[in-house]
Amino acid sequence: MSWETHNSSGSKRIVVTKQLPGDHWLKVLTDADCKVEVGTSTDILSVDEIKSKIGDQCDGVIGQLTERWDDELFSALKAAGGKVYANYAVGYNNVNVDDANKHGIPVGNTPGVLTETTAEMAVSLTFSAARRVVEADEFMRARQYKGWLPTLYLGELMTGKTVGVIGAGRIGAAYAKMMVEGYKMNFLYYDLYENKGLEDYLTAYGEFLKSQGQEPITWGRCDSVEDVLRQSDVVSLHPLLDETTHHLMNEERLNMMKPNAILVNASRGPVIDEVALVNHLNKNPDFRTGLDVFEDEPAMKPGLEKCPNAVIVPHIASATIWTRSGMASLAAGNVAGVLNGYGCWQDQDDILAFLEGGDAPKAAPSIVNRDELSLPAFSG
Ligand code: DGY
Repeated sequence: MSWETHNSSGSKRIVVTKQLPGDHWLKVLTDADCKVEVGTSTDILSVDEIKSKIGDQCDGVIGQLTERWDDELFSALKAAGGKVYANYAVGYNNVNVDDANKHGIPVGNTPGVLTETTAEMAVSLTFSAARRVVEADEFMRARQYKGWLPTLYLGELMTGKTVGVIGAGRIGAAYAKMMVEGYKMNFLYYDLYENKGLEDYLTAYGEFLKSQGQEPITWGRCDSVEDVLRQSDVVSLHPLLDETTHHLMNEERLNMMKPNAILVNASRGPVIDEVALVNHLNKNPDFRTGLDVFEDEPAMKPGLEKCPNAVIVPHIASATIWTRSGMASLAAGNVAGVLNGYGCWQDQDDILAFLEGGDAPKAAPSIVNRDELSLPAFSG
């Protein structure tokens, strides 16, 4: 493994397991008097490699969603004098927060900067699947296009149909607004919690359409996942991954969907039973899927790559320069904030002040276990 060192005179040692975009994050850490050691390999680091890099003395780590952060790594970090771990992701299913709590280590994540970017990718996957963009692109590259035909690559019209969302948090709600407003789609959602802000927004949007003499959109919160699946023309998955959502989409639930429906997943791979999905795609050629994430990433279940009705991209939903640089700033802010003894920022929807271009509040932008560790809140 190769590493590059920045600000070698810094008094606190920070390990960053992968190179991160932008340079604002590095300034945040060097301003906090950190020596920063960055892994330059694109290979996924093993637990042993991370442990050996942490070594005898390490104040904090910025790590990746591809690394399993549980008792073994938190013990090693604690023993090296570590005070903070920042996950370079909003999702932290790769982190065992109970283990971090056991060692008293604050865990950071990167909310608020991925919302629109990830929702835009879910929209892209929806339309790439609906309009068969990848199949048609491959056909062109193979120089098979012999002339316009009334029957070439017929897909599905989305405008005026029904879009369903499972998990209407920040990203699910952003996707819903893009689809409903952009394509005048009716909307259904399932979530354990009511999203009142989204509901009010959709009601107001329906009224606006009516005031313009247009058909208003309709929306509803369903009592079950199944209700959403049965009625929707496209379903986008945005739940957290935990034991309750593992294989949420199984054979039985796939069979409930319309035979020409579209299933989009930009959340976490194991939310779908991928073997069941491959079977379903093979049996139902008009059913389509758009996937950013996979059950055994980076591997795919056998046969997925052969399904023409699947659009598959390598976990890039948050991959815009602005978002990935912003995630780096937030991760660095979490490390610097904890090391500086700052309080924790409370409003995860209002995180822009921590990005490049301003004086950030003296706070750690997002510490997920602040309550469990009784960390002080930012007090201005
Ligand atoms: C996250 O932050 O959880 C995303 O999956 C990274 O793109």
